[in-house]
Amino acid sequence: QAASIPADNVPDMEKRKLMNLLLLGALGLPTAGMLYPYTYFLVPPGSGGGGGGTPAKDALGNDIIAAEWIKTHGPGDRTLSQGLKGDPTYLVVENDRTLATYGINAVCTHLGCVVPWNKAENKFMCPCHGSQYNNQGKVVRGPAPLSLALAHADVSLDDGKVVFVPWTETDFRTGDAPWWS
Ligand code: FES
Repeated sequence: QAASIPADNVPDMEKRKLMNLLLLGALGLPTAGMLYPYTYFLVPPGSGGGGGGTPAKDALGNDIIAAEWIKTHGPGDRTLSQGLKGDPTYLVVENDRTLATYGINAVCTHLGCVVPWNKAENKFMCPCHGSQYNNQGKVVRGPAPLSLALAHADVSLDDGKVVFVPWTETDFRTGDAPWWS
């Protein structure tokens, strides 16, 4: 509506207020953005499906070799990798130092923030609205309506690389059909 007011009719004081408002608005945008550093606005909650396996990639974009990963990630570790359709996906190192056969999609089922692992609490805790998931990604506190999606984390017999494959079977954490496939 600002543009529809003829400039001549706006007292100086009003103009200044208007400018301040516009300026605040402009400054406010990046600030609001920084409050949600984990939000991937353009990545919808993982939808699984699709064809065969996808090599897991580390933060540098390199394929992940299971044996190497185990050397550098201790028991109980949960570290993000790049998963199916580019979704951030946790690789899990079990307490016996083996790689779990499932990866946990980190995209919060509430509004899509990437959920950090909280080692001290032994939970995934979403910074956006407080949803919590247990150490296997099963939802234990809302507002998230569903558990984090799963993907199979297989190890290639050829080259030892970790390969994600869509999870279409029953969700072992809930006994339900997978909502994401
Ligand atoms: Fe995770 Fe809202 S996006 S709680």
